[in-house]
Amino acid sequence: MTAVAETPQKAAPVPEGSTMITVKIARFNPEDELGQHWESFQVPVLPTDRFLNVLMYIKSYLDGTLTFRRSCAHGVCGSDAMRINGVNRLACKLLMKDMLPKGDKELTVTVEPIRGLPVEKDLVVNMEPFFDAFRAVKPYLITSGNEPTRERIQSQSDRARFDDTTKCILCACCTTSCPVYWADGSYFGPAAIVNAHRFIFDSRDEGARERLDILNDMEGVWRCRTTFNCTDACPRGIEVTKAIQEVKRALLFTR
Ligand code: SF4
Ligand code: SF4
Ligand code: FES
Repeated sequence: MTAVAETPQKAAPVPEGSTMITVKIARFNPEDELGQHWESFQVPVLPTDRFLNVLMYIKSYLDGTLTFRRSCAHGVCGSDAMRINGVNRLACKLLMKDMLPKGDKELTVTVEPIRGLPVEKDLVVNMEPFFDAFRAVKPYLITSGNEPTRERIQSQSDRARFDDTTKCILCACCTTSCPVYWADGSYFGPAAIVNAHRFIFDSRDEGARERLDILNDMEGVWRCRTTFNCTDACPRGIEVTKAIQEVKRALLFTR
């Protein structure tokens, strides 16, 4: 992940066939007195651009101090989650062609850091509380006895049981779109529960009881109000709320 400031060096190019848009960004620098405030930039975009290209353009040509995380640029690393026009998105998965208005209408895009985590600078938040919750649910295979001499066998249907929740890339789009998490960051949040689900329903794992006890805590699954914000926000299409409901059912019926 990269979150460094670079100095713009080249004149800002305007590609042929591009449309000028306004990008309004929530800026914050802990080293100045301004606090969080909005700054706007005019950026020429092509329909084939991703929104991450737009931010890279600003950083390269207009303001090298703009700070945001990004790495893979292909929706895999989960590092560029941000709130774009009020919705949590990965900037690298958002195509400009899906945002550009028809005709002569002007487009303004607002960009803010994801909510519920402390802002460090501009669009970069401190992810540690998010990863603390992830680590707390023991997101790894727990087994007893001796190591097997060959791989642990699992049927296709047993593997399918938790297939959806293996897709998580820990981007935090779900947790930081959850109103319960906004109100009280001590709630584990949907991403931690998704990653607990991935092991609770794995037939090879023996730690389900331990994880269910952790999630039965007052900061656990029972705080979820089933508003589906998390499912709507997930860039991997994981049925987050369904996974949370399955963990709740496991708590009710396997005790
Ligand atoms: S369904 Fe539950 S975890 Fe998801 S956003 Fe709503 S309250 Fe939060
Ligand atoms: S469940 Fe989806 S939104 Fe939540 S952290 Fe994983 S990939 Fe991101
Ligand atoms: S930069 Fe890796 S997911 Fe967007």
